[in-house]
Amino acid sequence: MDYKIRTRLNRILIDDKIPVDTDITILGLVRTARVGKGVAFVEINDGSCMQNIQAVIAEPDNFPQLDKILTGASVRVRGKLVLSQGKGQKYEIQTQSVDLIGSADSTYPLQKKRHSFEFLREIAHLRPRTNTFGAVNRIRSKLSYATHKYFQDRGFYYIHTPLISTSDAEGAGDLFHVSTLDFKMVPMVDGQVDWDQDFFGDEAYLTVSGQLEGELLATALGDIYTFGPTFRAENSNTSRHASEFWMIEPEMAWAEIDDNMDLAEDYLKNLFQFALEDCKDEMDFFGKWIDKEVRQTLEGIVSAKFERITYTEAIRILEKAAEKFEYPVKWGMDMQSEHERYLAEKAFKVPVMVTDYPEEIKSFYMYVNDDGKTVRGMDVLVPRVGEIIGGSQREHRYEVLRERMKKKGMTDLDNYAWYLDIRKYGSVPHSGFGLGFDRAVMYITGIQNIRDIQPFPRVPRWARF
Ligand code: 4AD
Ligand code: MG
Repeated sequence: MDYKIRTRLNRILIDDKIPVDTDITILGLVRTARVGKGVAFVEINDGSCMQNIQAVIAEPDNFPQLDKILTGASVRVRGKLVLSQGKGQKYEIQTQSVDLIGSADSTYPLQKKRHSFEFLREIAHLRPRTNTFGAVNRIRSKLSYATHKYFQDRGFYYIHTPLISTSDAEGAGDLFHVSTLDFKMVPMVDGQVDWDQDFFGDEAYLTVSGQLEGELLATALGDIYTFGPTFRAENSNTSRHASEFWMIEPEMAWAEIDDNMDLAEDYLKNLFQFALEDCKDEMDFFGKWIDKEVRQTLEGIVSAKFERITYTEAIRILEKAAEKFEYPVKWGMDMQSEHERYLAEKAFKVPVMVTDYPEEIKSFYMYVNDDGKTVRGMDVLVPRVGEIIGGSQREHRYEVLRERMKKKGMTDLDNYAWYLDIRKYGSVPHSGFGLGFDRAVMYITGIQNIRDIQPFPRVPRWARF
């Protein structure tokens, strides 16, 4: 069979590039099939776009195979593209032939009706065929493209950082081991696991972030970005946490905290603008079925000036708030989602960039301010989601960094000698941040749970498919 002669639906329905009366071949899945008196309709989607096309069959009696063409079946339809007689669509197909390629029976779980997100998670292997998950997966692809375009256009080099690592980039300890040791007979020495006998001759993990290696490349190439999967074994069962998620981490040499904030604001706006302009069909769908205000929300952010405040100012605002918080507000605390959302949703109603966090609650690599108490961390908080970006100006002073690492209880400084070396030889001020790609897609689509943003989410006690 010659499948190459097919016309993709987006060429017809989005690009509008196929003239009427053209003979076309459509390959796709049946959404619905209705056989009436003297006419039958088969609605087909081929995944290339949101919309379906309807194949109209004028004399169903001549198509005995129609009995077997049920929701979920794959078919080949040949016919003429014509302007539609019916309402709601521009084109339809005057059908000459319909061939069943792969059948589906009445046990197919995606019969035409609305399904709950919870049910669809159980059938994540089939849900990409639904309108919602088709749109989510297409917009993920388009926003990935927009990200590469944004950074490439500005002279950032895309670098590939390792997924297997022997260091904890965040120093938070939420690590998945990578090991080939026999679990039934783990080699021990002095009451400790003998990692020397493991595959890498050392304790190894899936990376939590490409930042540390990103810094090495930035100090060599100038401006770089990573875009890859990261892994966290934090046991947080929330709608915003996944154990595996994609992160975009730009890193700029010769840049301080203000440059970092400028980049974060500009990139986020650019990404949202791209969604509004270049993902129209998907955004219309999300606006209709997921969140009526999603467009206005994004437009509001694109035209807003992000607020910039220090952690100390943020705490003062929270202390004065009439809101009853579950976690009491106190200088030194790690802000919880409720606090972050209060700042973005109620106090300012625009994205807020918070800087200069207490040294105790932030990672070892952040630049220490002159007060000795705060570091140049930077989080971007947005309404509804809370933290979407985390970043900082990096500590580039060799001695200061060593002291801070020791203070943080990092006893294995030898293990980080390579990281310290770039401060030892030709150190440069540098800054960067990480955008959680899945959180950005949550924000853009209005979908509230990260489990419905990733095609195959991994969360505590769930790694199926
Ligand atoms: O704030 P985080 O932990 O920062 C870093 O990893 C730095 N190394 C980034 C850098 O400076 N290069 O994570 C960055 C972002 C968060 O703001 C959030 O959007 C996302 O990654 N994120 C998660 N997304 C989904 N599930 C999780 N468990 C996440 N943890 C962080
Ligand atoms: Mg963070």
